[in-house]
Order: sequence, then structure tokens, then C-alpha cells
Amino acid sequence: MGTSTRSRLGALALILGLLGCGGAAHPVDVLDACGPTACPDPLPPDDDDGETTGMDPMPASDATDDEPAVPSTGLPCDVLDVLQRECQSCHGEMPKFGAPMPLTSYSDLMVPALSDPSRGVHDVMVDRLLDEASPMPPGGESEMDPADRQVLLDWIDAGAPEDPESSCAAGEVPQDQAGPEHLPCEPDIEFLAGDGSGNGYEVPSVGADDLYVCFAFDNPVEAGTQGTAWAPVVDDERVVHHMVLYKALGPALAPGPYPCSFIDQLAHRFVAVWAPGADNLVMPEEAGLDLDGGSYILQMHYNNSAGHEDVVDRSGIAMCTTDEPRQYRAGSLTLGTFLIGVPPGAEDFPVYGRCGVERTVLWPETVNVALAYPHMHLNGRAISTKVKRFDPSEGGIVEETLLDVPNFDWNFAKGYQEDPPFQIHRGDEIITKCVYDNPHPYPLLFGEQTNAEMCLNFMLVYPIDGILEWNCGVVI
Ligand code: HEC
Repeated sequence: MGTSTRSRLGALALILGLLGCGGAAHPVDVLDACGPTACPDPLPPDDDDGETTGMDPMPASDATDDEPAVPSTGLPCDVLDVLQRECQSCHGEMPKFGAPMPLTSYSDLMVPALSDPSRGVHDVMVDRLLDEASPMPPGGESEMDPADRQVLLDWIDAGAPEDPESSCAAGEVPQDQAGPEHLPCEPDIEFLAGDGSGNGYEVPSVGADDLYVCFAFDNPVEAGTQGTAWAPVVDDERVVHHMVLYKALGPALAPGPYPCSFIDQLAHRFVAVWAPGADNLVMPEEAGLDLDGGSYILQMHYNNSAGHEDVVDRSGIAMCTTDEPRQYRAGSLTLGTFLIGVPPGAEDFPVYGRCGVERTVLWPETVNVALAYPHMHLNGRAISTKVKRFDPSEGGIVEETLLDVPNFDWNFAKGYQEDPPFQIHRGDEIITKCVYDNPHPYPLLFGEQTNAEMCLNFMLVYPIDGILEWNCGVVI
């Protein structure tokens, strides 16, 4: 039995972009470690009392034009280097995407942690670097080189010694490559959060640690229009954590904001998603996303745990469209299952969704997957979708991996795309596997509440024509 495993879908999210958070595969811009205002002017060495300021400049001779030395952050250079590459795209001087604190200097790591003021940030950091369920950076080992993680752990293990004399070359903080300015086209429609009358949505300063808000839009395009590419518009990056765009089958009701119903997601068709670290989505040239009919719903997930009082947000999705239909119409097709039952106390408990041969054999032709967006709730640990087919040239059954997310974190769930698109052939067998831990005294069942579970893989596929169901095997 021959087995070939296709590489994991690249960690590109659907819509969006690369914040580059932890994504070594993404290009990064080299930035000075400090912005023009972020670093204080170097202070002269204080010879009077011998106390260190932690900001003493290095002797000029140590700085070269190529590698300007920057004032000490109090952190050893190897530690600072890892924090810059793996953490500061979110935990920068001005933390982004709901990250609660900066990780840019020794003192940042020594202050009490927001979640547990009896411990220092560096102490809580150890937990999160080793946390399998909610690792930092999000995605854990699949996002961060274990050697980099070890640098941080070793330093903290050694007592997190300050290095006031350190002079580190300017570092690299990965920059966001998502956003309308990175699209190859000019977006002509937008779905943005707002108050319903053209102004932004005021995100509360209290009680918005984990806030889901929905906004509805009438269909903005003429029949026959297709979406070709889209990008996140991340307006107030301090608090925007995650967003999903759905197509509703009926007309838009009130524009919102209104509380989201997760069950709605099942009645709607998935269109686009963004989470920190995800890319813009550019459809392959032969395919355009069907935008006909219905209305649109933008689901925003905010995290204002820092309590900012001045947040008026206008984030959402910007899309390029064409009125000249492309060769193939793309649409959404969902995999997974509603049949979830995880016993109390179970660990690494698998649940399977099957889209079988008897269904795919009815598809008119090979289907291309442009994007896969896994969706589980708080207790979801891992999700994968594998495709099996009989391949005479391999002498037996061949298995390919369409999606593999070994460290699922619902706070950071993004879409994954592959270039060229993943192909599912007529007659293939598609198995989606969701793995859960259940720390509760009750069984975890399918449901919309965050303490119930989901096991879904929303995909954008083409050609969608001739595939008559919105799901394959999710509902029996
Ligand atoms: C993609 C953005 C992102 C990246 C990259 C990232 N973080 Fe975070 N971090 C967050 C967000 C959002 C939160 C708050 C939600 C949570 O706790 O999961 C957070 C929370 C934390 C916390 C918990 C703080 C507390 O008070 O409990 C620690 C510790 C942490 N991050 C450390 C790190 C470290 C260390 C790195 C790099 C190795 C890193 N993070 C990379 C976004 C990020």
C-alpha cells in the first residue's frame, strides 16, 4: 500500500495576511527594533552612583552602518532576538490583536502578569511556551522553532538574569503582509464593522475580553459578479482578534451590531476569515467566488482586555470583484460532523466526519480546494482532513493530507491555502478528524455554546457547479 503525504497546507489564512506572526515561511522586513518614538534617547553613562539605567549606549565603535547598535533593553541579545521574531508582531511596544502586554524589554518581562498578578510575566511565559492547548506563539511548535523556544526557557530557568550592558544589532519584527495595500487589485466592495450609520463600532472598555459582535450587509453586487481576492481591513489593531465573513441565504435584517449566533454559521455559507498571522486570499486565475444572492454577515471577535476606552473600530473585509465571470465558479463546501460526543474526562478523544466515495463519485469533476478553515470550540486540540484514493500507479490506496492543524487554538483559528490548490477527485474518500480534551464532568456534545463543540472544515472549492449539497457528510 503506497502512501504519499502531501505537505500540510501552508499556513496562509484565507483572507489575510501575514502578520508574519511566527511564520518563518513568510518574508519579513528588517526593521529597526525601535520605532522613531519607541526608544528613549540613550542616556549618558551615569558615573556618579554606579547605578545602571539599563539604557546605557554602547561605545560608538561597536556600532557599524550595517548593524546599528541599539540601547540596551536589559535583555540578552539571543533572548531579544527570539522575542522580536516570534512575539513582537503582537506583543510590540503597542500590543496588537488582543495581546495584553508588550514583550520588548527586561522590565516588560518582570512586571506582574495581567492574568495572575502574583506572578511575573516571564513566569507565566514558561507556562504558555509549554502549553499544548493554548501555546504562545499561537500554533506552538508548528509556528516556532523548538530551538528558539529553548532560548527563552533556558534564560528563565537560569533566573532570567538582566543584561544591562547588552547591545544588540537591530532586530527583525515580522511585518504584516495582509491588508488591502498588499492585494494585486483595487478592492471595490467592503464589509466593515460599524454602528449602522457609517461610523465605527464602539468597542466597550469593560466586558469585551472575548466579545463576538455581528454586522449584516445587503448584497452589494449585481448578479453574476465574482470575488477574485480579498484582504482584512484591520482598523484598531489593539483589539481586533479575529473575523469571519459569511453569506446568508436571506436578506439582511438589521445592520447590527447584534450578538452573533454560532448556529447561524451553519445556516450561512463561509466566505472569508482572518486571524493574526493569516494572509490575503487571491483566488487562482481560473476561479471566481460566487457572490450572487442573499446578504452578508461579518462576525467580529474583539479582545479589549487592556480596557482601552477610545476604541471605535471599522475593521472588516475588502474584496476585489469582477463582472466578467471566470472559467470556474467557486463556492463553499463544508466537511466534518455534527455527531460529537466526548465523554467526561476524556483526553485526545477523536471524532470523525466522513465524506465518502458514494458522495464524491457524484461530483461532476475533480474539485480544487482554494482554502480550508477549521472550526472547533474551546476543547478542540487538533484537526485534520485526509483524502484516500485507489491509485493503480502506486499499487494501492494513497493518502494525502488536505489540512493538518496539530495545535488548534480557537482564538487564533485561521484559514489555510495551498498553491496550487489541493485536488479532490471523484470517488475519493475524505476523512476529517477532530481531537478533543474534555476536562468537564459532563459530555461534550455538538452545539453553539462555547462549552459545546464543533467539528467543521469550511472550504472554498471550485468548480462548485454540480455539487448539490453545501456540506459533504456533516449532516447525515
Ligand atoms: C499572533 C499574535 C501573538 C503572537 C505572535 C504571540 N502572542 Fe502571546 N498573546 C497573544 C494574545 C492575543 C494573547 C491574549 C490571549 C491569550 O492569552 O491567549 C496573548 C497572551 C500571552 C501571554 C499571557 C499573558 C497573561 O497575562 O496571562 C503570554 C505569557 C504570552 N502571550 C507570551 C507570548 C510569547 C512569549 C510569544 C512569543 C514566543 C507570544 N506570546 C507570541 C498574541 C500573540
